[in-house]
Amino acid sequence: MLNKIKLWKNQSQSSTLRERIEDIKKLPVPRHVAIIMDGNGRWAKKRALPRIAGHHAGMKVVRKTTKLANELGIEALTLYAFSTENWKRPKNEVEYLMKLPEEFLGTFLPELIEENVQVKMIGYKEQLPSHTLRAIEKAMEDTKNNDGMILNFALNYGSRAEILDAVKRVLNDCQEGIIDMNELNEDSFSSYLMTSELEDPDLLIRTSGEIRLSNFMLWQLAYTEFWFTEVLWPDFAEDHLIKAIEVFQKRQRRFGGV
Ligand code: FPP
Repeated sequence: MLNKIKLWKNQSQSSTLRERIEDIKKLPVPRHVAIIMDGNGRWAKKRALPRIAGHHAGMKVVRKTTKLANELGIEALTLYAFSTENWKRPKNEVEYLMKLPEEFLGTFLPELIEENVQVKMIGYKEQLPSHTLRAIEKAMEDTKNNDGMILNFALNYGSRAEILDAVKRVLNDCQEGIIDMNELNEDSFSSYLMTSELEDPDLLIRTSGEIRLSNFMLWQLAYTEFWFTEVLWPDFAEDHLIKAIEVFQKRQRRFGGV
């Protein structure tokens, strides 16, 4: 009897989620969602587990989130997986984080291919261990003909460095006569950023209760709607992404107008 009640509860909960998903799809969904996945360490600490256990749990949530985002018709999902500042963490943690793309893609790449997802990356490739880069590049190559959702990993990414590099390349192109400084505008400057092929995010989500950007997409987030939650990333569930989008759909975006 108890099992029957549990089953009924699960079914009714999942049908509610299903209804909310169908409702969301009736309105414009954010085309590009960016997520600062924070709180893995605290999640592990609460369970007296090593920090890397939190990152492992966080990796599984990446899979669930990707699947739902794709189902909702989101065109691009950018996930902040490792910042240019994260090298300061203990060696074993950095090594573990650098193994996650291989583990994730080793397990899930066939499903991503089947779901028509395109894997991409922003960030500095040069400092990545060769095994990490190999996994990402293989996934990019194997999904390059897909035309569904872009799953964009921000890996060894830092926004200030990205902007500074763009400025240097703009100056160089001005000197070489490739571009005219007077014709430089926001659109043409954007094409010098690592996100040149992507629209700016419509929605930014940050988990774990921290209310800051941590050097993430500073230029690209100029007009983005923000949604913060206390939930730690490994606890981030379908319900939370749905909630974030429901809130987004109720907001009025004015882009500086009235
Ligand atoms: C921040 O939490 C999280 C990270 C620096 C790593 C995020 C990585 C994942 C969620 C897995 C990525 C998966 C793939 C496939 C690349 P924190 O460790 O700073 O948490 P804390 O603030 O609670 O210590």
